[in-house]
Amino acid sequence: MNLDALFKLTNGLYILGANDNGRYVGSLVDAVTQVAHEPVIVVVSCGNQSYTKECIEKTKEFSLSVLCKDVDPFVLGNFGFQSSRNVNKWDNVDFYVEGGLPYLRNNIASIRCRVLSKTEFVSNTMFTAEVIDADSVKDAEPLTYRDYRGYFKTEVLKSFEEYKKNGIKKTETQTPVKEESKMSDTKDKKWVCTVCGYVYDGDVPFEELPEDWVCPLCGVDKSFFELQEV
Ligand SMILES: Cc1cc2nc3c(=O)[nH]c(=O)nc-3n(C[C@H](O)[C@H](O)[C@H](O)COP(=O)(O)O)c2cc1C
Repeated sequence: MNLDALFKLTNGLYILGANDNGRYVGSLVDAVTQVAHEPVIVVVSCGNQSYTKECIEKTKEFSLSVLCKDVDPFVLGNFGFQSSRNVNKWDNVDFYVEGGLPYLRNNIASIRCRVLSKTEFVSNTMFTAEVIDADSVKDAEPLTYRDYRGYFKTEVLKSFEEYKKNGIKKTETQTPVKEESKMSDTKDKKWVCTVCGYVYDGDVPFEELPEDWVCPLCGVDKSFFELQEV
């Protein structure tokens, strides 16, 4: 089976938001699809390691913020490369709250959902949910998973590494300095996690890491890493 075939499915990118006893949590997701229009039903699939998933299981509701092409790349790293278990991700971005759920301010649509059922798989939990409110915020091009795997990922990794190094919190209004893109000409091959985009940069050569070593960001094993130009 060639899993590259699945990258040709067209997905958007979304911030999945939930409430954790008054604290807001969230995750970057692409596995979202509308599956019925009467009533309006969507499915969302969460990795079983996701803390946002655990909160949705308890509260049975979540928000979706639809990302647009001009989103600050840091937003994707902030919600996709670290867990709400340890970080208050929403503190790092410009957001608003409606009905106890968080939404990214610079989004193109805000959608509120109530969970009807869940289906559990080995790797993921799929929520089937009814859309109970939706607002089309602005008319702009949605960011796709293909954009992410193509031109956008380098920007996301750079802004997230900068945040990790300097502890600088960025909001969407503070977009990264564009001149950095000049540096992308000097390409270098690194082992990259195909699930979350983490770039391995340790002193021990990647090949020599023990077989039970896992990605420090998303927890998948070594087989999910690929040697890529970064
Ligand atoms: C481009 C991209 C797409 C992702 N898509 C999903 C997804 O569809 N479902 C999911 O649960 N996690 C997805 N993830 C991984 C989560 O965003 C990531 O594991 C996050 O750290 C979970 O945070 P949480 O523990 O706060 O829920 C994706 C990550 C990236 C970088």
